[in-house]
Amino acid sequence: MNVGIDLIHFSTSDYYLGLDAFAEEKNIDVDKFYIGIGQEKMSIAPPDEDVVSLAAKAAAPILEQIDKNSITAILFATESGVDQSKSAGVFLHGLLNLSSRCRVIEFKHACYSGAAALQMATTMVRANPKEKVLVIAADIAKYDVDTSGEATQGCGAVAMLVTESPRIIAIEPGSGYHTEDVMDFWRPNQRKTALVDGKYSTKVYLHSLKQAWQHFTEETGRTFDDIQHFCYHIPFTKMAEKAHQTLAKVAKVKLSPQEFKAQTLPSQVYNRIVGNSYSASLFVGFCSLLDNLNENMANRRVSFFSYGSGCVAEFFTGLMQPGYEKVLMSASHRKQIEQRQPLTYAEYLAFYHEVDDEVENIEFERHNKGPYRLAGIKDHKRYYQTL
Ligand code: HMG
Repeated sequence: MNVGIDLIHFSTSDYYLGLDAFAEEKNIDVDKFYIGIGQEKMSIAPPDEDVVSLAAKAAAPILEQIDKNSITAILFATESGVDQSKSAGVFLHGLLNLSSRCRVIEFKHACYSGAAALQMATTMVRANPKEKVLVIAADIAKYDVDTSGEATQGCGAVAMLVTESPRIIAIEPGSGYHTEDVMDFWRPNQRKTALVDGKYSTKVYLHSLKQAWQHFTEETGRTFDDIQHFCYHIPFTKMAEKAHQTLAKVAKVKLSPQEFKAQTLPSQVYNRIVGNSYSASLFVGFCSLLDNLNENMANRRVSFFSYGSGCVAEFFTGLMQPGYEKVLMSASHRKQIEQRQPLTYAEYLAFYHEVDDEVENIEFERHNKGPYRLAGIKDHKRYYQTL
């Protein structure tokens, strides 16, 4: 039985900060960002946008195409959770008016949780093909101002419907894993922003890739040449390029510049202008591949490398399904990205500091253009609005 992603759609916020404006403010050569880390823009969430409103924006176009009462579970992956107890997915469940015969759970391990939720969903469907699982990966990447991480912020959400006989990609059994207790990036409970040992984190990422690949080849017997397209977790696009160079080296494969580009570049187009979206980033990369490769990918194998700091990593693959191109929502992705409004550095800082969802009562000024927004907090309870 084939199990995998039947529909996929992603969302991002209505605003961005260009790294040209960022470089000018910080008096840094812009090529450090455009070339050095391979980033041009970062999506910035206004105060009335959170992972629930982003997730609803990502999921709604999927629900319009199916009987939404057929969804049996929501697996919501995030490290920007909105409550220490209630899962973000239950807020989403209410906002989208889903059936009560649907269970909801939140997944967490840094950027890895999106892949963990997807794999859990495939396991659920293999055990009971009647299951239709809505997987959400949604995050807002936020670092302290004037730290090395500030240029690698961003936000986004990806919604994936996981079913049997999927129309887009069948996820193949067999993965390689790597887990190691390290402190490369973390966010203690009392902090809104992540702490990071930046250079160390890039080394652990590449080490985890080598270990997970080794395990993957032992488990599946597959080789580099069995894979046509490679998707990586993308904190910034240069990281994905370094990952692919590393993998080719470990697999002892010599790639021409054209082969290298063809295998990885289409999956980086969106991430370069959206920024890091943590748990969603790998799947924003997959959407980017689907929307930006001008070739038919039917029956080709795509690999996914998920890395979550701390750290947990997984390498797995899927097979593209014939006719997948008929169900893509590429136009919606492009429209969202193109319609974003640029912010000056001062406007970005105003959003950055305005967010205050720890207070008991607040009504947020309207910045988010919808279709869903965080309207306010009353007696410590978040409430949302459909526009
Ligand atoms: P930095 O100190 O700002 O930058 O840190 P740098 O000085 O290392 O420069 C970056 C690159 O730009 C270098 O190239 C420079 O040579 C080059 P490299 O040596 O890396 O090949 N450069 C230039 N190139 C052209 N023209 C110029 C120029 N100037 C410099 N004028 C760092 C960079 C990535 C450390 C920083 O951005 C950071 O701390 N980011 C946050 C952490 C991060 O993203 N880590 C990635 C791996 S961990 C991960 O992916 C997990 C994560 O997503 C979280 C989760 O799991 O939840 C983060």
